[in-house]
Amino acid sequence: MKRIGILTSGGDCGGLNAAVRSIFYRAKEKYNLDVYGILEGTVGLMERPPRYIKLDYGTFSGNLIRQGGTFLGTTNKGNPFKYPMPDGTFKDRTTEIVGGYHELGLDGLIVIGGDGSMKIIKEIANKGNLNIVAIPKTIDNDVGATESSIGFHTAVDVATNALDNLQFTAASHSRTMILEVMGRDAGHIALNAGIAGGADVILIPEINYTIDGIIKKLKQLNSYGIKHSLIVVAEAVKQENGKNSTVKFADGETRLGGIGSYIASKIMNKTNIECRVTTLGHVQRGAPPSTQDRILASAFGVYAVDLLAQKKFDRMVAWNDRKVVDFPIQMGIETYKEVELDDSLVKTALALGIYIGDIS
Ligand code: F6P
Repeated sequence: MKRIGILTSGGDCGGLNAAVRSIFYRAKEKYNLDVYGILEGTVGLMERPPRYIKLDYGTFSGNLIRQGGTFLGTTNKGNPFKYPMPDGTFKDRTTEIVGGYHELGLDGLIVIGGDGSMKIIKEIANKGNLNIVAIPKTIDNDVGATESSIGFHTAVDVATNALDNLQFTAASHSRTMILEVMGRDAGHIALNAGIAGGADVILIPEINYTIDGIIKKLKQLNSYGIKHSLIVVAEAVKQENGKNSTVKFADGETRLGGIGSYIASKIMNKTNIECRVTTLGHVQRGAPPSTQDRILASAFGVYAVDLLAQKKFDRMVAWNDRKVVDFPIQMGIETYKEVELDDSLVKTALALGIYIGDIS
């Protein structure tokens, strides 16, 4: 093995640069490999000439370990099997990706991505004999087979800090402050930040709630003389009619958003409780990586290079029982991880008297 590539794929998050740095150092220090950073995810391999930068010690001047986002660029649009072309048609561009990999003379490729990216790259690798290893990243923390994915802890810290700030203004005005956090299908960010930030109500997509249940909790607080409160709601929580709150952008893309305002208006229609809403959005993704994410990214990067060097391809690294381990990539895709009803943190929330929905 002489030359390896790295690409970041899907939504960005804190810790991606730290992972790229770790891969580079391990590849150089232990195996003296050339390391190519592919630009803009699989798009960099699709284009001719393929777009990449050759990483060297100068690339990592000390800033990257603490920098949010990904300096390589990424994309979370356009499935390469059905890639949207400028003329409005769709084209399978996976052969170009395979060609880009071979044109660069790569002996292996480390893909840092979530379950969607892993599924796509695995299929492309099967088709074109690419030697791949995956590192899980997603603020949603829903990749299976690993307890933590890169980016999750940073997002939880950002959401917890937001609750810390909201607490003061909630108390000053005797208001209910609602914080809407990300999490496309899973409620891990809301649950973790809600507990860490002392929320009174935590709403996650895995557990049904009622507006009356929320109001009952707020009235209970009132009866204790507490006239302010904090609610955390995950963006994927549904309205009472079972529909998601979504926003459609001018470019045709639809994203989750608006459930916080929905909850606020329902509470205010039924009570005289004053609510305000904060939608946290992409600050959860772009924030500088937390300590935990830097550590996780560093450990994952080293292990991923070792897997490539040992020719253990089609594997993903994972964090389990305080150790880095590896599994077939397929396992990360198949065992999608949402919040389970018997999760220790669900039990913790219940034990603390937090309203978390219709569960006891
Ligand atoms: O999957 C990560 C995530 O941040 C989700 O939590 C969120 O719903 C989505 O990506 C937002 O995507 P975009 O960056 O395209 O707005």
